[in-house]
Amino acid sequence: MKKIQISPSILSADFSQLGSEIKKLEEGGADLIHVDVMDGHFVPNLTIGPPVIKNLRKYTKLPFDVHLMISPVHDYIQNYAEAGADIITIHPEATNDLKNSINLIKKLGKKVGVSLNPKTEITMLISEIKNIDLILVMSVNPGFGGQKFMPEVLDKIKTLKNIKDENGYNYNIEVDGGINFSNSKIVLEAGADILVSGTTIFKENNGDIRSNIEKLKSI
Ligand code: DX5
Ligand code: ZN
Repeated sequence: MKKIQISPSILSADFSQLGSEIKKLEEGGADLIHVDVMDGHFVPNLTIGPPVIKNLRKYTKLPFDVHLMISPVHDYIQNYAEAGADIITIHPEATNDLKNSINLIKKLGKKVGVSLNPKTEITMLISEIKNIDLILVMSVNPGFGGQKFMPEVLDKIKTLKNIKDENGYNYNIEVDGGINFSNSKIVLEAGADILVSGTTIFKENNGDIRSNIEKLKSI
């Protein structure tokens, strides 16, 4: 039986109480904490940076799954590593040398994630796929929580799963955007290992985080 992991996105949390919100996620059974970093340039929204992540680090032992929607990204990677990120996920469009940026993340002792927007092809990362720990498949155009899941990315998930199985790669496939109780099963069956969710976890069932996480896990 596949172990399904849930990485709640704090983009949908109460930003005035991020520390206690992260504790609630850990107590509610989260496996990772998905931290959406946005620069208002790569995506049309602006969220948090290294100082906030550094201050949040003490609230949980769970891995910080840091999604960098920033460009150019290379020169900022070390700041997020030092702030306490455990997985550093970058977009291939945000660096002019993906191999170099991946090597830097590894040199800093962090897990490497590469994110594919809905319109970004797998070819953008294929040359480095054996060096990647996590492939983050965006099922919305990045920038905001609460958007509708884009089913056209299911084929991309299935292709990534096939490449992984046929070559014995061990990257995790994480899916991010519009995940809810009616599509989580189909996403997991397509090959996802980790589900990112913000709106569903924080808003459904009067914000009952534990039951929302459990419901997403139980396909
Ligand atoms: C969007 C972010 C996602 C988003 C997910 O750019 O990368 O992580 O916050 O939020 P929901 O689950 O609300 O779509
Ligand atoms: Zn994200």
